[in-house]
Amino acid sequence: MTPINIPEWQSLIRHYTDLKYTSMREEFALDSGRFKRFTIECDGLLLDYSKNRITKETIDKLIKLAKSVDMPNWIERMYSGEAINHTEDRAVLHIALRNRSNTPIMVDGEDVMPEINAVLAQMKRFCDQVHSGEWQGFSGKKMTDIVNIGIGGSDLGPAMICDALEPYEVEGMSVHFVSNVDGTDLSTTLEKLNPETTLFVVASKTFTTQETLTNAESARSWFLKSGSQQDVAKHFVAVSTNAKAVAEFGIDTDNMFEIWDWVGGRYSLWSAIGLPIALYTGMENFERLLDGGHAMDNHFRNQPLEKNMPVIMGMLGVWYVNFFGSQTHAIVPYDHSLARFPNHMQQLDMESNGKVTNREGQRISYKTGPVIWGTPGTNGQHAYFQLIHQGTQLIPVDFVLPVNSHYPESDHQSILLANGLAQSEALMKGKNAEEVRAELVKDGFEGEALEALLPHKVFPGNRPSNTLIFPKLTPEMLGKLVALYEHKVFVQGVVWNINSFDQWGVELGKQLAKVILPDLLEDDAQIGVHDSSTTNLIKMIRELRHD
Ligand code: F6P
Repeated sequence: MTPINIPEWQSLIRHYTDLKYTSMREEFALDSGRFKRFTIECDGLLLDYSKNRITKETIDKLIKLAKSVDMPNWIERMYSGEAINHTEDRAVLHIALRNRSNTPIMVDGEDVMPEINAVLAQMKRFCDQVHSGEWQGFSGKKMTDIVNIGIGGSDLGPAMICDALEPYEVEGMSVHFVSNVDGTDLSTTLEKLNPETTLFVVASKTFTTQETLTNAESARSWFLKSGSQQDVAKHFVAVSTNAKAVAEFGIDTDNMFEIWDWVGGRYSLWSAIGLPIALYTGMENFERLLDGGHAMDNHFRNQPLEKNMPVIMGMLGVWYVNFFGSQTHAIVPYDHSLARFPNHMQQLDMESNGKVTNREGQRISYKTGPVIWGTPGTNGQHAYFQLIHQGTQLIPVDFVLPVNSHYPESDHQSILLANGLAQSEALMKGKNAEEVRAELVKDGFEGEALEALLPHKVFPGNRPSNTLIFPKLTPEMLGKLVALYEHKVFVQGVVWNINSFDQWGVELGKQLAKVILPDLLEDDAQIGVHDSSTTNLIKMIRELRHD
């Protein structure tokens, strides 16, 4: 199926031509009901998408496109445990991990809920033991520091959530994340820690990831300088699908928390990969996170497409990528504790929808996933917002705004929010030549000086953004937000007719790293066959590392 050939897509091409010069500013002036028309609410989370390059007709057409690609049916196929990750022959069931209603979800004729509940119960028992001090290190002390060793989905999601939920931390618990095989990451983390009170969570779905296993081995060597081999069981636990590899590594499989192949890495924070979240904030807060995800799952499954938050956000993304030619999408949380939110979204979106092959294995001729990026506001305003306001690219922005802070400080929160709202207003309205002229005259400019400066101060405006606004960043709200983006990515994958749940594109680099490694381990080994650039860079590394 090629979406660009279907009549609804063609109709959107014509609609784009009619609409591309329509000004949002004028549309707002003409329609006092625009905000109401273009907002959706889900349990305290409001999406305002009125500051987009859309009319009611645009949304009607985007929804028709979603229907024409069978969106409701695809949603059901995911929820019912069908192997929609067809290149790996796997179901896609992160929704089961947070299925708080506990209704059966079948995979290959078997309900997966009992095993999910069993692992949740195991996580709870373990958290209780650690928090109460019943779980003791080799010298009889209570654990104070959790070190998660994992990468990609086994790092980004839990690290982002732990940062965001710092106000919920269990007293006396600290959490650290080591992901990079660059020794700096591990060394600078360990130098602050006491092996007697440190608990390592080795998190790897496959338990074959080079970076994670290397870091875990080095962490164990560090530990063994203080503890003995038999103490390892008290200080190392694992989260994986691969019990054999966990045992081979030397972690007692009694201390292993299982995940399943139907949990994608970038969708795994809801599984036992979330163990550091539960250890850091308590199992109750982890469950509140699941509750929030489940609320969004129900919204996604049950709301009609035109009132469906992930569908609307996904279709707006398609509108900009495929019709306006946008290449990137910024996510800007006005909450410092969500600093890692864009990073997690980057993996979620780009590893899912960075595809050039459709589900039938054909190379596709239309654009798929955009580059996702962003940093917290207001910092971004003083860095890259210039380009979003006056640059030559159209960059849709998602503003994420919690109304109340966990850390109220005089007027800080009002100033923060005023800035967030100001950015979306400025992007939408811009500033035209007449307005700039009036301002310059007021400031005493005239003649040539005024004319010379004027064009530089004009803002084109008409730049799109979504605003996601909610009362406070609670575990439930964070769960809703993350699940919203997961489903948005799914919606886009359905339209683009790609498999959003495999990631073959990351394999080649992994394979080549294994080929290059022997060339770097031994200085006098014969260098393998590479292109001349790689060969010469290997030679240079061999020379320079002795300096
Ligand atoms: O290299 C990509 C990837 O496979 C991600 O999809 C995954 O989240 C990450 O590596 C880590 O994989 P694992 O959890 O198996 O160590």
